[in-house]
Amino acid sequence: MAETSSAATAAGRGARTAATHAVPIAILDFGSQYAQLIARRVRERHVYSEILRHDTPLAELRRRGVRGVILSGGPASVLSSGAPRPDPALLDSGIPVLGLCYGMEIVALMLGGRIERGTMREYGLAQVEVETAGDVLAGLHAFPAWMSHGDSVAELPADLVPLGRTAGCRFAAARHRTRPIYLLQFHPEVVHTQDEGKILDNFLFRVAGVEAGWTMENFAAAAVLKIREEAPEGTAICALSGGVDSSVAAVLAGEALGSRLISIFVDHGLLRAGEAEVVTRDLEDRFHLRVRHVNAADLFLERLAGIEDPEEKRKRIGAAFIEVFEEEARHLDGARYLIQGTLYPDVIESAAAGGPAATIKSHHNVGGLPEKMGLTLIEPLRELFKDEVRAVGRVLGIPESVLGRHPFPGPGLAVRVIGAVDRENLAVARRADDIFIKELHASGLYDTIWQAFAVLLPVKTVGVMGDERTYEQVIALRAVTSTDGMTADWGRLPLDFLGRVANRIVNEVPGVNRVVYDLSSKPPATIEWE
Ligand code: XMP
Repeated sequence: MAETSSAATAAGRGARTAATHAVPIAILDFGSQYAQLIARRVRERHVYSEILRHDTPLAELRRRGVRGVILSGGPASVLSSGAPRPDPALLDSGIPVLGLCYGMEIVALMLGGRIERGTMREYGLAQVEVETAGDVLAGLHAFPAWMSHGDSVAELPADLVPLGRTAGCRFAAARHRTRPIYLLQFHPEVVHTQDEGKILDNFLFRVAGVEAGWTMENFAAAAVLKIREEAPEGTAICALSGGVDSSVAAVLAGEALGSRLISIFVDHGLLRAGEAEVVTRDLEDRFHLRVRHVNAADLFLERLAGIEDPEEKRKRIGAAFIEVFEEEARHLDGARYLIQGTLYPDVIESAAAGGPAATIKSHHNVGGLPEKMGLTLIEPLRELFKDEVRAVGRVLGIPESVLGRHPFPGPGLAVRVIGAVDRENLAVARRADDIFIKELHASGLYDTIWQAFAVLLPVKTVGVMGDERTYEQVIALRAVTSTDGMTADWGRLPLDFLGRVANRIVNEVPGVNRVVYDLSSKPPATIEWE
């Protein structure tokens, strides 16, 4: 208990300071895939930032103590009718502005420049030649930068001066003659732009003059406060799976709401081996969380019966989850909020088609929420990447046994049993998975891998065991390395190790006579098979 109470005190102390916490850097979101990445880059520099609506009024920015504004990119064309704009007063305010991609084009247009549609499209790396260094480009001469634009600035307004160009883009960087307004056609926030981080450093520390000092302790404290603000009274429920994301979300929410939080652990019959024990031992007891254990395996398996299509499975699981929560919420008098550990990669991979990001998979925790679920959704980790969530978890005193666990998808083993799922094939996948994971731990390889698991294929192949012909199923082992789950490479696990795991699976898991190893990276594959 010692860790718990010290973490609680730390978060409590921080929470009071965070109440008056100014927002030094505001990121105005024009719908970019990269808005959260910009926020992350600012966080990495230990500066607090918030992502706000693109049209947040200047008065609101001032009220929050904003000292620098970054305008994100966006999918729209600045030339289309109703193209989103920032508050025009921002451009006269004296608050430093850094406009990126769409953010550059819209400011150039608002200041009287001419934008051309589609004539100078650039996607991918381009070499930026700096013409005038200083300020945001201080210390840079020529560097590769990531471009992703259809429109471009064809004529700069009189008040802007060019700072740099690429072969395909006359105005790759510009600044205002007299005001602290800087515009970049490229994306300094993505790792492909090789400016050694100088541009954001320059903008934050030279131009906006903010101080570094913000930490994950501050994040935890601010998140606790925000949850209290969003759920001022009544009961909140939280979907606790024992995975990293939901555990951190539950502990944060527990910190914020105390006994007003009721965590619900749904055993949907699609869990890995030993899942419930982790929840009881490492979270419920340690953090005094109120947890309701719900056994809903029958409901989920019934809804999934005979369903082979991966999207349909995900949608049904999402729907069943909501149903279970709503039912639980009804029993809990006055439950009004639902806390979820949705992370940023979940958000963008589930973005609606036609939006800035295409739908890859319906992540059940964001894709399946019906409009009228009757609970207000609170997502305290929505802006974070996985490694940042782990860092928050450490601040809260959550044990490494939880934080170090490989990610596990909400739809669970249902997306690891290819095709229709039932109790029997889930049990086969679970046993194979358990052997793989235990062997990874035993060999000290577990932490070298982002995520490892077994997939049961709906394919039978011929084998021979003890002179008998067998005709049984195939297990595919998948292990990937990654930093955020958005891209991944297949893990180079030692062959002897893989041989040992394969051997054990075939010997110990009835119904399996063949094991293969998946050599696909993401892209083009995804991490999960469905
Ligand atoms: P994919 O398969 O899309 O997975 O490359 C990327 C990461 O997300 C996890 N994942 C999910 N997580 N709900 C979740 O909370 C889901 O529906 C879901 N689907 C995939 C996956 O395990 C990997 O870590």
